[in-house]
Amino acid sequence: MAPQATTVTVTGAGGQIGYGLLFRIAAGDMLGPDRPVRLRLLEIPQGLKAAEGAALELQDGAFSLLEHVEVTDDPRVAFDGCSIALLVGARPRSAGMERADLLQANAGIFGPQGAALSEVAADDIRALVVGNPANTNALIAAASAPGIPADRFSALTRLDHNRAVGQLVAELDARPDDIDGVAIWGNHSSTQFPDVSHAVFGPVKTGPDVTMVFDALAAKLGSSEAALAWLDDVFVPRVAQRGAEIIRVRGSSSAASAANAAIEHVRDEQGGVAWTSAAVVSHGEYGVPEGLVCSFPVRSDGDGYRVIEGLDLDDRARARLAASVDELVAERDAVRALGVI
Ligand code: NAD
Ligand code: LMR
Repeated sequence: MAPQATTVTVTGAGGQIGYGLLFRIAAGDMLGPDRPVRLRLLEIPQGLKAAEGAALELQDGAFSLLEHVEVTDDPRVAFDGCSIALLVGARPRSAGMERADLLQANAGIFGPQGAALSEVAADDIRALVVGNPANTNALIAAASAPGIPADRFSALTRLDHNRAVGQLVAELDARPDDIDGVAIWGNHSSTQFPDVSHAVFGPVKTGPDVTMVFDALAAKLGSSEAALAWLDDVFVPRVAQRGAEIIRVRGSSSAASAANAAIEHVRDEQGGVAWTSAAVVSHGEYGVPEGLVCSFPVRSDGDGYRVIEGLDLDDRARARLAASVDELVAERDAVRALGVI
């Protein structure tokens, strides 16, 4: 008997990332080749035409896993019975907008969406927030969804994780599969800490040739000091500011790479993974205040991400994590001051 279709809702489905997501979900890249999907596309009225166009193209794709597509501007319709929600649509920062205005505008989106999810989503709902400021939007959605355990909400830092791997691949002249154990700590913002201190490098990661990424960098660059300087002066800022670099070069924010990262986040959350990065609700791990949605190294047994605990963080790492956590605390406090959570 064919498995029942999984209902997947994409918000902001008429936008750039939505366009990058929908066809890959329909092709089975997110849930695998054996799970049919029912897609719900949520947009605001101005975005409905773009979403409707995407729905026509989905039909033209004749995807064998795609059972049904519905376009709506009503969150309660969009989230009805949904098991996976990709919360992409958000209010971008416009000229002259203060941070508090941005947080308030997004609270007006993620608060009601969290509430609607709580009322009508399936019992197994998991929601990934992509729309920025992603960590705090996830916090708002979780706080607005009393019927859903908070740890069913997460925010996307897999893109940052993949960016970090991409930079190491280029520097070490390696392949992505040769690198494991990279971690993104903190906020999906320029304060994040991309960390290689637990990362390993080697053609066969568990074999005799495996080495720490740091040692491979030191060998390539001539000394440990040169490796540390490259990490501090090139790698960390490059990864942390890659979103801005893409906007500068491309003229708009990352779309296909963001969609790819969102697909991988959900695929690994549902399918299992030994090590990746995701922003999840803190239970106090590594001293991060409880309830903040913070990026950590995580693993999944197929039933949601768990923080990988017990890693040693040196003073440099602790200071960088603390700086990003301070930013998350400030965002949470600003949202609290607005009476949103
Ligand atoms: P976009 O402007 O192309 O599309 C956003 C879409 O969301 C628009 O079609 C808009 O009409 C819709 N929308 C706005 N409010 C909505 C609401 N209340 N309900 C439903 N839909 C709504 O933007 P994009 O390039 O697709 O990016 C979307 C978001 O993702 C942005 O906030 C962007 O900053 C963020 N982003 C996050 C990451 C990450 O790694 N976390 C990476 C890239 C982009
Ligand atoms: C990214 O990391 O590419 C985006 O979050 C940048 C942005 O501000 O949309």
